[in-house]
Amino acid sequence: MTSCTNPGYTSFFLLSLLVYLANAGNFNQDVDITWGNGRGNIANNGQLLTLSMDKSSGSGFQSKNLYLFGRFDVQLKLVPGNSAGTVTTFYLSSQGSTHDEIDFEFLGNLSGDPYTVHTNVYAQGKGDREMQFKLWFDPTKDFHTYSVVWNPSRVIFYADGTPLREFKNKESIGVPFLKSQQMRVYGSLWDAEDWATRGGQVKTDWSQAPFTASYRNFKADGCTSSDVNTCSKANSTWMYEQLDSTAQQRMQWAQKNYMIYNYCTDVRRFPQGLPPECNSN
Ligand SMILES: *[C@@H]1O[C@H](CO)[C@@H](O)[C@H](O)[C@H]1NC(C)=O
Ligand SMILES: *[C@@H]1O[C@H](CO)[C@@H](O)[C@H](O)[C@H]1NC(C)=O
Repeated sequence: MTSCTNPGYTSFFLLSLLVYLANAGNFNQDVDITWGNGRGNIANNGQLLTLSMDKSSGSGFQSKNLYLFGRFDVQLKLVPGNSAGTVTTFYLSSQGSTHDEIDFEFLGNLSGDPYTVHTNVYAQGKGDREMQFKLWFDPTKDFHTYSVVWNPSRVIFYADGTPLREFKNKESIGVPFLKSQQMRVYGSLWDAEDWATRGGQVKTDWSQAPFTASYRNFKADGCTSSDVNTCSKANSTWMYEQLDSTAQQRMQWAQKNYMIYNYCTDVRRFPQGLPPECNSN
């Protein structure tokens, strides 16, 4: 009997495939398209989600589940060509005036000019923690993976597995952390021509519309219980994830070569002194 007809092998293969498919996520099961009046679309049996935008509207989706800690991955292919003025997002947010939020925003640019990856962290309503990056690949040519790891001690942003930034829990020095409000995962494509590209100097070229961004392989592996003590995923790797020395070197590489803005070094913006989390390890 060859391995191809060995029933044990075949069922192992089928089981692996099922496990893979179960982990891969399905947009039909995981998210709702919440705005855009038909400009957001799920295709390929839930494997692909596209958002588009024209002069009258962008579009967006949100996760059906609320999460308190987790690992969130998506593959994104951004608006190609002249994408100036467009903003494609992948973020987590809770509701209300003291909300928490973890943002990936991709600011479009003129053809041939690099996208800006804008990141921010809000804890209990306070943000102002922007860090911006360029990428070491063209994010419009292929799908690339963007990930957020959120656990009680840190938030880490990744692009293709390379850590871009880390926001640590510094409650010990009085900095609020994101640890009690459940968040949903959101994606959107919207028009931000007043600020996105070179501070709003370059406007959206509507003759290029509709603009389209594509999402696939969405994976939200998180606690869906509002009480982390009853979370069935409490022992997942992401719950304890931190950057080992190799990962820290990767992050230093990304920040040294690709970071274009860091609020923690913007002394002119904070004449009273940099935010406390900037001055401690
Ligand atoms: C667009 O490209 C210009 C020129 O390279 C650059 O200065 C700018 O930061 C880029 N990104 C945005 C969002 O304007
Ligand atoms: C996590 O691991 C600890 C220690 O091994 C165990 O006591 C606990 O029951 C586990 N929790 C879950 C939700 O699996």
